[in-house]
Amino acid sequence: MSESTNGTKAAPSRRALLGWGGAGLALGAVAAGGTAAALRTGSSDAQPAAAAGEAVPFHGPHQAGIATAVQDRLHFAAFDVTTTDRAALVKLLKEWTAAAAAMTAGHEVGDGAYGGLPEAPPDDTGEALGLKPSRLTLTFGVGPGLFEKDGKDRFGLKDRRPAALIDLPAFPGDKLDPARSGGDLCVQACADDPQVAVHAIRNLARIGMGKVAIRWSQLGFGKTSSTTPDAQTPRNMMGFKDGTRNIAGTDTAALDKHVWVGEKDGPAWLAGGSYLVARRIRMHIETWDRTSLKEQEDVFGRDKAQGAPVGKQREHDEPDLKAMKDDAHVRLAHPDSNGGIRILRRGYSFTDGTDGLGRLDAGLFFIAYQRDVRNGFVPLQQKLARNDALNEYIQHVGSAVFAVPPGVRDKDDWWGRALFA
Ligand code: HEM
Repeated sequence: MSESTNGTKAAPSRRALLGWGGAGLALGAVAAGGTAAALRTGSSDAQPAAAAGEAVPFHGPHQAGIATAVQDRLHFAAFDVTTTDRAALVKLLKEWTAAAAAMTAGHEVGDGAYGGLPEAPPDDTGEALGLKPSRLTLTFGVGPGLFEKDGKDRFGLKDRRPAALIDLPAFPGDKLDPARSGGDLCVQACADDPQVAVHAIRNLARIGMGKVAIRWSQLGFGKTSSTTPDAQTPRNMMGFKDGTRNIAGTDTAALDKHVWVGEKDGPAWLAGGSYLVARRIRMHIETWDRTSLKEQEDVFGRDKAQGAPVGKQREHDEPDLKAMKDDAHVRLAHPDSNGGIRILRRGYSFTDGTDGLGRLDAGLFFIAYQRDVRNGFVPLQQKLARNDALNEYIQHVGSAVFAVPPGVRDKDDWWGRALFA
């Protein structure tokens, strides 16, 4: 058995487990890697459930899951803190950090999914056994309600609230569902395998039982943004390439300028962190699907085939904003139309079945990271909400904002340590 990153439990990694213990017996000589589905089906020639990736380092100056190359799947969860006991909350954040370090490394939580006390529920729920780390990242944020809720300073943190952690203003056209908005804490789980992302959120929620409760959560697939400009740009549910002009995860100068909170920005506990805005944006898919190709391309100011800007041939050609319609999405959102504002987009598509009227409940779960929402999402969205041709086909139905602390430095550090110091 190996030492887990949190130093607590010598749990086998999911990968190591393939040749280990009881599960290993069933698999016999099947080689590790490529056997994920075999664990569940018992068939030795089954393919892995999803393209698997290696582990992404959990410790570092910034949290993983922001500049990290975007994974295929998302499970995003917003939590209400239900305890009023500061010490209990701090204890939970330490437990969460240890579990997050273990899960992102491909280890089980605590004493694992089996082999512990028969009388007690296992520490790990077990559905990720045999799956690879799948580039799982867990990114933690704190919402306005942690600092003050219903006029109460529940945890003595009121004066530590960052000035930039504003309550987002109402934007024209918003139809926000309170049950899908807000949250005192959030965890963004991204992985190349949906089961690994869901397992992570489920286990954090389980650990938090009695202290936090999931307020809302969102599953996402088909990343709609790229932080790797050399890779093929993904397409959103409208069929257009999305993420062409985004901040690259390797562009440290742009990340420092537009994404990471600087030392002098304040507050000190957030230096090296960021701000996250999440918007559940429903698409009127059926209307869009009856719209002509010409109109669709005019809406974005890019063509559907290549993603090239109007009048240009290739996706990465420099856009000529004046050649686009005044209300084209790209023209309005481009830094040149907004005093140089840039955000790091990291959203996913969602389809949550149908809405009872036969329409797909589908759209874009928009996630943006920025150094200051007051100079990032807010002015951009103020402009888009008023003028964007895309508004005819979309509606913002959920909204949340979080401050995202800097990275967990080592195994003695924990999510929110500097905030609670
Ligand atoms: C369902 C809603 C949305 C859809 C379908 C959508 C789609 C797109 C597409 C297809 C592009 C062009 C390709 C690219 O450069 O990524 C784009 C660009 C962009 N979008 Fe959106 N978007 C949506 C919402 C938003 C929102 C809410 C914001 C910010 C408030 C935003 C900000 C941007 C920015 C900054 C760009 C890059 C502009 C440039 O530098 O050329 N988008 N979007």
